Amino acid sequence: SSAASDVYKRQYTDCLTTDIMEKNMTGKICGTGSWAPDRVWDNNDLAKMVETSDEWIRERTGVVQRHIAKEEEDTVTMAAQAALRAVEDAGMDVEEIDLILVATISPTEIMPCVACGVQERIGAENATCFDLNGACTGSLLALNTAQAYLAQGIYRNALVIGAEKLSGLTDWTDRGTCILFGDGAGAVVLRAEEGGRYAQVTHSIGKKGGALTLQSRNQICYENDPKAKETYIQMNGKEVFTFAVSKVPEAIKTLLYREKISYGDIRYYLLHQANERIIRSAARRLGEDISKFPMNMDRYGNTSSASLLILLDEVKKSGKLQKGDKLVLAGFGGGLTYGASLIEY
Ligand code: COA
Repeated sequence: SSAASDVYKRQYTDCLTTDIMEKNMTGKICGTGSWAPDRVWDNNDLAKMVETSDEWIRERTGVVQRHIAKEEEDTVTMAAQAALRAVEDAGMDVEEIDLILVATISPTEIMPCVACGVQERIGAENATCFDLNGACTGSLLALNTAQAYLAQGIYRNALVIGAEKLSGLTDWTDRGTCILFGDGAGAVVLRAEEGGRYAQVTHSIGKKGGALTLQSRNQICYENDPKAKETYIQMNGKEVFTFAVSKVPEAIKTLLYREKISYGDIRYYLLHQANERIIRSAARRLGEDISKFPMNMDRYGNTSSASLLILLDEVKKSGKLQKGDKLVLAGFGGGLTYGASLIEY
């Protein structure tokens, strides 16, 4: 189509005729969206399934309820709903999207990837599509990746999505994990513009990967294989907790030190919504008021790759963000991986 060749030409002329690096291009947030299934399980529903209580879950995690997808709702359908909302919020035509990048650990299918499924559903014919597995740090790593493409002038408009159907990967007999997770999707549209600011700090600790695992089903060889149990999320809660409370504030401190920005200049810190105690601890360690740390895990639980982008959507739609506001986004999780990014709204 002519729209497709326009995009092609646009990207190529930009790359050939201008020194894009000199221009300091960054991806500006121009639209956000999120979506979660209607079905909700609260802590009392879980107390009927495992030995636990609403009081214990609230106190230890901050989670009150989580959304649980029905059979026909999968990672692709959730991602596509969030994507459409973000594109509409950006006031953009889907044909203008050059890149769809989906962070997920619960793809509906391994192949085709979720991003291609989203492309088909929303009709973003000109986009390059792929998925990225960064566990609960996934949406942060996807944002970093999209920003790198935009800074290089390779793409102009990127749709970054975090989407998870964790309910299908949860052992509903394990009270140590099933209380934490939920389903949902978040999305953001980034447009490359001159100026602006984006910076990132990321780390991976592969040798600690055993603290949070999920075996692939393609490893299961025979019926009643003991490994079948491992195709659900398994976690050493204490180890992950200790990792998160020390490494997340460290990454944020490093980021702000490198960028020569003081804590007071940050409008909001958006942290991966795993556990309220982890976020309160991070706020204390940074010496920042907890009111600068919006939270929604009470309503969603931990949605892994989706969590930061659902939260970003809520903060944007609250109307409290103003142009130029500096946001810190921070993620942590399986890998183990963690990191923090700075973005100017
Ligand atoms: N309901 C009631 N009791 C529970 C329970 C539940 N859902 N889960 C565990 N317990 C019990 C344990 O059996 C243990 O009992 P015991 O002392 O009789 O042995 C007791 O509560 C304490 O267990 P422990 O595992 O030490 O609890 P904890 O304070 O570490 O809290 C987590 C458990 C999972 C809430 C906490 O470790 C956590 O949030 N970790 C981080 C997890 C996370 O964020 N993961 C995702 C990262 S992306």
